[in-house]
Amino acid sequence: MIFTHRIWQVAGAVSVRSKILGIVLGLVLLLGVVTTLQVRVMSRQALTDRLEEQSISIARDVSARATDLILTNDLYALHQLLEETRLNNADVRYAFITDKNGTVLAHTFGEGFPPGLLAANQADEVDHHQTAVIETEDGLVWDTAVPIFGGEAGTARVGLSEASVQATVESMTGQMLLTTVVVSAVGIAAAVFLTWIVTRPILDLKKSAQAVGQGDFSRQVRPWADDEIGDLALAFNSMTADLAQAEQERAEREQLRSQLLEKVIAAQEEERQRISRELHDETGQSLTSLMVRMQTMKQQCPVPELQPQIEELRQLVVQTLDGVHNLARELRPSILDDLGLEAAIERYVREVNGRWPVEIDLMMMGMDNGRLPPPVETAVYRIIQESLTNVVRHADARHASVLLERRNGRLRTIIEDDGKGFDLRDAAHSERLGLYGLRERAELLNGTLTIETVPGQGTSIFVEVPVNGTDSHSAGG
Ligand SMILES: Nc1ncnc2c1ncn2[C@@H]1O[C@H](COP(=O)(O)OP(=O)(O)OP(=O)(O)O)[C@@H](O)[C@H]1O
Ligand SMILES: [Mg+2]
Repeated sequence: MIFTHRIWQVAGAVSVRSKILGIVLGLVLLLGVVTTLQVRVMSRQALTDRLEEQSISIARDVSARATDLILTNDLYALHQLLEETRLNNADVRYAFITDKNGTVLAHTFGEGFPPGLLAANQADEVDHHQTAVIETEDGLVWDTAVPIFGGEAGTARVGLSEASVQATVESMTGQMLLTTVVVSAVGIAAAVFLTWIVTRPILDLKKSAQAVGQGDFSRQVRPWADDEIGDLALAFNSMTADLAQAEQERAEREQLRSQLLEKVIAAQEEERQRISRELHDETGQSLTSLMVRMQTMKQQCPVPELQPQIEELRQLVVQTLDGVHNLARELRPSILDDLGLEAAIERYVREVNGRWPVEIDLMMMGMDNGRLPPPVETAVYRIIQESLTNVVRHADARHASVLLERRNGRLRTIIEDDGKGFDLRDAAHSERLGLYGLRERAELLNGTLTIETVPGQGTSIFVEVPVNGTDSHSAGG
């Protein structure tokens, strides 16, 4: 298991080119070396067998032709015979003749007869040849001894060297190895070509897949051939087309959703504004006049016992009026429309500071560069409002801070608290709309919103939205 896993790891880590090259080269080399070895062994065997036969037949021939010469004691002719035999056959290393006592009568060694050679081989029985392989300085020699005239006249000995066999085998091996090398070279060229053919469309596909991964669905790959890879290219193209269509539908849906959301938020703001105005202008006016009349009534009441009760009722009206004003302001602070974001946020933070036991620092930079677009003002105001409401409702914080910075055409807002924090995953699954609304508002302005929170360590909300208009590079009030 582990072993095969390891093989896959190694084989999988190399490129397709190396794999194909490896297979081709491996097979060619294996075939070349194995057949070379086999042919070498077999041809050597065959050639030495022939050498042995040749050695026997030459020795027999010498023996037959030497009989008369020995019987007539013609040593010169005997010598001629041996020389002739040696010259006629290139393999013959030496030839010599002994008489039946083992004394050398004639030989081809010229100067000196090598010692020990005599004892190296001898005809065993009458009329039977005997071949021995003798090791000499110049390699192996097939030495055959044949009795002359049934052994009566002596023995003929002929030695055939294996030098030519050796040379033949070596040259054949060289030829075969050369062939292997040539075939390997052809194999490498073929493998390189094959790799190019195979990997070209794959590399194409890879590039296109990367492009598609980065959202470029217009990319099509050219099917190079009508094979499996060509089919893959076609499948890829149809997948890209499907993706492009799906992406287009998604973008349309997304656009529709943003439009709808924008309308919902605008309608909500309008409705809040309307209710706020109504509360302020109608309900507030009525309550004010009620309050004034009760004041008058109290002063003019003829029954003194009723006066405290009237005063009590008047106080109730005062409180209700206060509540109505607060509600109207919270629904839509007219200061936001009249004086802008900076003033509205200053007042809102002041109010929260006064009403709740949490200390809020406010810092605004670069805000004195003219009014922001109304949608940005409303959205940022609502984001800060919701974030601070969450701090008051959930965080248990002692300190919080609001930072606004307008710079380089962007408005950054950071709302931080030192409260108990929460688990973002839980909040994501909750049915609540507050945090969700924050993100929606930021994204509708093409901005971003990031929430960082760790349970027990507080919460930070970062909002960044692009704003048009003049930029400020230096911090301001
Ligand atoms: N600053 C904060 N500190 C601690 N917990 C918070 C904070 N802000 C949000 N949360 C947690 O995240 C949850 C989701 O907040 P979200 O504003 O979406 O809903 P909500 O405030 O409960 O209700 P609403 O929809 O009225 O805003 C909250 O219920 C609260 O548990
Ligand atoms: Mg909330």
